[in-house]
Amino acid sequence: MEQYIIKGGRPLRGEVSISGYKNAALGIIAAAIMTDETVKIENVPDISDIEILLNVLEELGAKVDRIGKHTIRINASRINTTKADSDNVRKIRGSYYLVGALLGKYNKAQIALPGGCNIGSRPIDRHIKGFDALGSEVKIEHGLICAKAEKLIGASIYFDESSVGATINVMLAASMAEGQTTLENAAKEPHVVDVANFLNSMGANIKGAGTDVIRIKGVSKLHGSEYSIIPDQIEAGTFMFAAAASMGDVLIKNVIPKHLEAFTAKLLEVGVNVEEYDDAVRVIAGNRPGSAHVKTLAYPGFLTDMQPLMTTLLSLSNGTSIVTESIFENRFKFVDELTKMGASIKVVESNTAIITGVERLTGAIVSASDLRGGAALVMAGIMAEGYTIVENVEFIERGYEDFENKMQKLGAAMAKVDSNDLKAIKKFKLKVS
Ligand code: EPZ
Repeated sequence: MEQYIIKGGRPLRGEVSISGYKNAALGIIAAAIMTDETVKIENVPDISDIEILLNVLEELGAKVDRIGKHTIRINASRINTTKADSDNVRKIRGSYYLVGALLGKYNKAQIALPGGCNIGSRPIDRHIKGFDALGSEVKIEHGLICAKAEKLIGASIYFDESSVGATINVMLAASMAEGQTTLENAAKEPHVVDVANFLNSMGANIKGAGTDVIRIKGVSKLHGSEYSIIPDQIEAGTFMFAAAASMGDVLIKNVIPKHLEAFTAKLLEVGVNVEEYDDAVRVIAGNRPGSAHVKTLAYPGFLTDMQPLMTTLLSLSNGTSIVTESIFENRFKFVDELTKMGASIKVVESNTAIITGVERLTGAIVSASDLRGGAALVMAGIMAEGYTIVENVEFIERGYEDFENKMQKLGAAMAKVDSNDLKAIKKFKLKVS
């Protein structure tokens, strides 16, 4: 089993370049099968969740050319089934976008219920409600989402509560429905906008993405396109917080600073200096952070994915902080691990963490149980005194490209080793001691 070994206590310094946005890439890659013409996508992150989705496309019969580390070409003219039921489908969350994409193009889809990080119950009722409204019949049978329609007809759909996944999924299907669809209380996250922009580049007619009302005029055909995915706001936020937590000075390049505003605001609030440039941010921290209260919200509020990083940063703060998770009910699992490193955090009613800042964390053996919680444990290892081992790195590799290399380049003493490779562990310890 692979694990990260980290010797903490070194401030991160230097520059890091951010990869393409995983959560946009998942929607865009699914959308790419909605045309029979070739689509070229650039700035695709080289991470396991994306590789799995590309494998699913191949299982459906699409041709996928990986023409560079970050560039792919997809041609879906030879898709020979609308059913995807493999283990790959169940491993990731983003496979559910194939329901919207296949339903839009072929009026039918049978897709295994998706997997993804275990951070709460994660129902898909809002997706189903949207597909229903477009005139399709949707059933869950034998672990598959089965959707079919004579034809899809545009409709007015109001989401009781905003959902990124449901907004993207219904937008995919509606872009090829007959007539106009209006999505109200739509999610406004940057990846919703990126998927809409990509669909528009293929000939779709979508207006208003990024606001809470999206208007879609269905088209009968989509065409080929070349498109570059936006930078990953969560990867950028992770490096911003790691720079702050290590009391370092890091220039984070290839970002859209507007997407990072909620993180920047919190860093400024706890006394960290953030400079904004056109497509970069520099985070400079000299002292322990101050305390803060944070509540996760839909965009443009403070993103739930950044909550574990924020909680971990605040574990070192000078004071008491309260972090409230309002999106997913099970996103404080990493806290048990963090307390093994000396953090003083009490989780009450499963969605509120009361954090009493401590002066230092100390290294320990900890285990990642989801993507962002795992990244937070790596950040804790970088902040801590002594050696930390983070087990189950496969969770982290789902969403962070070259994580240990990027951290190493910033000066972190960190390596990925096999837990049985005692020689490699010894070598690492000799190198960093
Ligand atoms: C997306 O998940 C992201 N995943 C998540 O990132 C992210 O945390 C989340 O949006 C919020 O920003 C992908 O893009 C693949 P939602 P998604 O639908 O689409 C409830 C990561 O680490 N809900 O906006 O699943 C749901 O339970 C991942 O990169 C319903 O009740 O999130 C949650 O409480 C983890 N019924 C809330 O809405 C539904 O039909 C928001 O979920 C849909 C959602």
